[in-house]
Amino acid sequence: MAEPLLGRLVVVGLGLIGGSLALALKAAGQCREVIGVVRRERTGQQAVELGVCDRAVTSLSEVLVELEAGDLIFVAVPTLAVEAVFAEMKGQLPDGVTVTDGASVKGNVVDAARRVWGEVPDFLVPGHPIAGSEKSGVTAAREDLYRDHRIILTPLRHTGGKALQQVRAMWRAVGAEVLDMPVGEHDEVLAATSHLPHVIAYGLVDTLAHDAENENIFRYAAGGFRDFTRIASSDPVMWRDIMLANREAILAAVDLYRGNLDALRSAIDRGDSDYLMGVFTRAKAARDHFTRMLAKKAYTETMQAQEVTFIAQPGGAVSGTLRVPGDKSMSHRSIMLGSLADGVTEVEGFLEGEDALATLQAFRDMGVVIEGPVDGRVVIHGVGLHGLQAPPGPLYVGNSGTSMRLLAGLLAGQDFDVTLTGDESLSKRPMNRVALPLREMGAVIETGPEGRPPLLIRGGQSLKGIDYALPMASAQVKSCVLLAGLYAEGQTSTLEPAPTRDHTERMLAGFGYEVQRDGPRATLRSGGKLKATKIDVPADISSATFFMVAAAIAPGSDVLLQHVGINPTREGAINILRQMGADIEQTNRREVGGEPVADIRVRYRPLQGIRIPEDQVPLAIDEFPALFVAAACATGETVLTGAEELRVKESDRIQAMADGLEILGVSAEPTPDGIVIQGAGGSAGEGAVFGGGTVDSLGDHRIAMSFAVASLRAGDTIRILNCANVATSFPNFAELATRAGLRLQST
Ligand code: S3P
Repeated sequence: MAEPLLGRLVVVGLGLIGGSLALALKAAGQCREVIGVVRRERTGQQAVELGVCDRAVTSLSEVLVELEAGDLIFVAVPTLAVEAVFAEMKGQLPDGVTVTDGASVKGNVVDAARRVWGEVPDFLVPGHPIAGSEKSGVTAAREDLYRDHRIILTPLRHTGGKALQQVRAMWRAVGAEVLDMPVGEHDEVLAATSHLPHVIAYGLVDTLAHDAENENIFRYAAGGFRDFTRIASSDPVMWRDIMLANREAILAAVDLYRGNLDALRSAIDRGDSDYLMGVFTRAKAARDHFTRMLAKKAYTETMQAQEVTFIAQPGGAVSGTLRVPGDKSMSHRSIMLGSLADGVTEVEGFLEGEDALATLQAFRDMGVVIEGPVDGRVVIHGVGLHGLQAPPGPLYVGNSGTSMRLLAGLLAGQDFDVTLTGDESLSKRPMNRVALPLREMGAVIETGPEGRPPLLIRGGQSLKGIDYALPMASAQVKSCVLLAGLYAEGQTSTLEPAPTRDHTERMLAGFGYEVQRDGPRATLRSGGKLKATKIDVPADISSATFFMVAAAIAPGSDVLLQHVGINPTREGAINILRQMGADIEQTNRREVGGEPVADIRVRYRPLQGIRIPEDQVPLAIDEFPALFVAAACATGETVLTGAEELRVKESDRIQAMADGLEILGVSAEPTPDGIVIQGAGGSAGEGAVFGGGTVDSLGDHRIAMSFAVASLRAGDTIRILNCANVATSFPNFAELATRAGLRLQST
């Protein structure tokens, strides 16, 4: 076995915190001997009996003389007792011995060290394990207390490098994650996240315990009381010390909370349902988010924070009746327009993917009360066109280009400043396409270098309507300008070079806002109002496309996709696949809330390569990665041109697909505005078209799902890296795909 990290470990104070470190380091074989320093002999005996330490003494001075370089002292006594321990060490500590502590307040420990030594010595590494339990004492010590928990160290400028390294290594050896923070920041963060909840829990139990009816209260107190007050069973001395030691920061947190509680009280008093719903829905969303964060499933978690790999076994066919999740574009717009409407808008079929949730969160942050989503149902308490409030901080929209570009238009017309930020992929995407027309309207917008995010939008500008000819076919740019037009003097119109999705125009009309449409031109005037409505979001044709392609390429397939939105500005994939010879049947056509909807049945039939008509490009813009997989399975060549926009999506989709297809043995030659794919269907017959291999989706949801579909015609396993962002548009893709017949595993 390798040399242990430490020589001797001296733990001063063998309670839950000290005892657990001793147990864990012993179990990890990372120290030669553990010596406990306790106040009462009985505790020492107990600790030895429990195997927490090898021996225990009642005086620190007694062990100091034995220590040598490489040994470490962990001070784990209540915060206010730390100074006396330091005083006992002074002048007696051999060189090369490191001292660290576990107190919950760091400013106080640093001050104590200064009082004792004149300055904070270089061998002292102040630290705080963010772990614990309401149980206390040596009998509560647990070997796994620190596993997967965080340890905050607050080293000072002159803290010794060796000592710091040793303390870091020690905590890592017991399974903890170590991070550094300045002393002041630590104390403020802990005041809010740990100390305030303890004040409230102790206070609440004490209040109820004093109540004349207390017996009944305790007898009938069910889950809520029990869950909320668990921490009031914590060690009173330890918590009294923390309150006294972190006085200023805790007072600030208590005052903030008291203000909030007073406001809640008066809302209850005056029966203000909206206010209560606002606080409760925001708190629920925050708490749910926190729960997901703990489970490592947060929707704002960046792609680097979470690694998901798809492993697709070759072969299979798809069959059955499926309903894919709600349309992403409409889900975004339902939140935006519902928030700006007067009255309560009810949405069904909302896509609970990360992108649409980012939009939802942004409006919550701007003071809109939004209930849900629960099973695709969302209730939005609109605040009217002029009712948004300044958010408490920057609005983070994750991976979502639609959120950022549409919000930019809306926010340009508000009277407050906002910053919009996104994840690594979004931070590389072009935003000048919205910043330029908005500036023409009088907006004040700053971007990052080269027109990339973040966007800083200055409020309080008076916008003027413009007549804007879009330089590219982009529904996001069109929508951005039209939404800014709601706040601009006079008339705003957009002229698009080719038809793009028109959900904004349709949904504005659905909210009773007049939009004139004349071929490629859309026009609206400011000064109107949006009236709350009901929205039924159909299934997303972009998500349905993965199953359309799956059925079209895999012999024996037959799927029925229900309730799919078939807006003519979104039908490109159906048109292109049909032109390639696919067997696609639409049934049960109907209109739902101003949008056409149908069930789509797709059966396997061999495909032929085609030259894709350029007028179909904007109508199938998000579907090309999947269509490239279809092209690879077709007989003959498929040529795409006029699609340079694909290079600025969540990834450069032309390059990403060409690279992946080549790895899987299909010839795919990228061009500046498209791709040429040599279909292998002719020679392969109904057999494998793709080889196996590992491809990288580059964190782009649609690339990931497309290669998963390719496995149906693969000869070997396909591993797809960086698939976490599938959750942006199709959170249950792996589950649905497996149900349909793909042999897909997500790890
Ligand atoms: C979208 C428009 C399209 C599309 C995106 C969603 C929208 O982008 O790619 O996924 O909801 O308006 P562009 O308009 O930039 O082409």
